[in-house]
Amino acid sequence: MYALGVDGVAAIRRYHDETSHSPRPRSRHQVVRAFWPMDPANRPSPFKRYRELEREPLPTGLDPPDGAPTALEVLSGHRPPIRSAALDPAVLARLLYYSGGVTRYAQEGQRRSWFRASASAGNLHPLELYAACGAVSGLDSGLYHVDLDSFCLARVRPIDVRAHLAHAVGDPALAGRAVVIVITGIPWRTTWKYAERGWRHVFWDAGSLLANLLAVAEAHGVPAHLAFGFMDREVSHILGIDGTTECPVAVVAVGAPADELGRTAKPAEPSDLDELRLEVEPLSPHPLEFPLVTDAQHATNLDAAEALAGWRQVCTEDHGRWMGPAAPMSIDVPDHGELLRDPMETLILRRGSTRLMARRTVPPVALTWVLSAATRPVPADAISAGHTLLTHELAIHGVEGHAPGLYEWVPGRLARRRGGTEDQVRDLATYLCLGQPLGGDSTYTVFESADLDTILATFGPRGYRAAHLEAGIVNGRLLLAAHALGHGATGLTFFDDEIRAAFATRASCLLVTAVGVPRYRPTPGGPPGRPTELTRFDELMARLEDRSRQQPRR
Ligand SMILES: Cc1cc2nc3c(=O)[nH]c(=O)nc-3n(C[C@H](O)[C@H](O)[C@H](O)COP(=O)(O)O)c2cc1C
Repeated sequence: MYALGVDGVAAIRRYHDETSHSPRPRSRHQVVRAFWPMDPANRPSPFKRYRELEREPLPTGLDPPDGAPTALEVLSGHRPPIRSAALDPAVLARLLYYSGGVTRYAQEGQRRSWFRASASAGNLHPLELYAACGAVSGLDSGLYHVDLDSFCLARVRPIDVRAHLAHAVGDPALAGRAVVIVITGIPWRTTWKYAERGWRHVFWDAGSLLANLLAVAEAHGVPAHLAFGFMDREVSHILGIDGTTECPVAVVAVGAPADELGRTAKPAEPSDLDELRLEVEPLSPHPLEFPLVTDAQHATNLDAAEALAGWRQVCTEDHGRWMGPAAPMSIDVPDHGELLRDPMETLILRRGSTRLMARRTVPPVALTWVLSAATRPVPADAISAGHTLLTHELAIHGVEGHAPGLYEWVPGRLARRRGGTEDQVRDLATYLCLGQPLGGDSTYTVFESADLDTILATFGPRGYRAAHLEAGIVNGRLLLAAHALGHGATGLTFFDDEIRAAFATRASCLLVTAVGVPRYRPTPGGPPGRPTELTRFDELMARLEDRSRQQPRR
């Protein structure tokens, strides 16, 4: 049980309540002067650029190797044997490209917008990636910023900082992993459109990116483990970021643990490192900071050594009594009709959020396998082995053998909570997704939820971030699994309290994913340096707008 940070819990509850969407008008508690949502003159750049650092290109020949497992096998947990060899730059490049790489673009007049390997609310991509490598990775030792625009590495520190990250995470073993990837978030990229609620998006999008990263790692037999808890101040110091306008979100230990490779591992004090003073291009003319977001960020930081020790202690306890079960580590590979046999990289390039869905009925495997694949255990510090922080509520509209209604998925089993005609359930799901037709046009819509009271009481404020990250990962896996069967899916935003009321649950909805049958064939993304142009993207968005206008208002 968490003892520290009572004020932090109050701050995070306040953040959650004040950023909840409601059909009733709310008084905005904070007015940020000069905030005009999506001000084109103050649009943040989607890429961080260091002014003076030299860039080293990453390998670009990333076609899947012969004999690579199919994405269906990987998503079912049938992975190749763990690689005992050290990671080489090509594997690192795959992990980075197929999680955060630029795969498509659309030209809108003078402006180009970039789409990536993973989904992002509003296509705003608030994330940056860094890689801490030892010489063992095949690159010179150092801390690199990943320039996703040019697909290059920019060396931020010329020394191996894995041991310093091990100290910041409170996990000595991290020092012996081949590579440590750190994901950071730049809230302004998403608050620019979504105001304070945008801070939640940082974690959703990070989850989406992590779902890809974990899947690619699994496909190549590379162990990867996530730390959601770390001393934020120390990680920020190592990376040379301020922890407010850019903040650390997750740390990924990549490669077999040191003891398997016979290396020794010893944490090092981050304070031994010089302060970095590197020039970065400005994000936008006047980046805005939202006090509610900064409060939430700081309330969830683990800055004192005792806070990190408390987190690590709580993470080692067995929470099986209250955490729900995850699906098994490995599940049956689906076997129905003509299935796609793409390897993971091809599947990721094929994925694109589905903007229009046909109201069709699908076979049960499209629900049971997709949900099982998405709810397999997440290898993260805060999540007890075989369990989940989440509950999975769903509205089923068009799945053979399942009457339309509201259900709860407890891996392997569906429990019906409420019935209704197909039209009633579709209308309700549309409404819950802020009136977005995709919520009701899907074959089913998943409401990833968590009992925040229990999570905050167990983990303290940092548990809020952990639950959002897990919800983001489940969303990302749902997108991959639906596409693996030739279907489609998209993340959606939602009315918070209305979902609790509809499902009569204590759990708060954290993220929604609609899974269904696409009404068009998405254009596959391209390899590094050759993103595909989405030539008719504006037409697709116009069709989505038309569909929204047809939707009856409640
Ligand atoms: C967490 C999350 C929330 C999203 N919410 C919505 C939404 O409310 N409505 C919508 O049409 N698309 C939503 N999307 C889809 C994004 O708009 C889409 O991912 C983005 O435009 C990039 O396109 P791509 O996924 O095809 O790469 C969401 C995506 C994510 C990851």
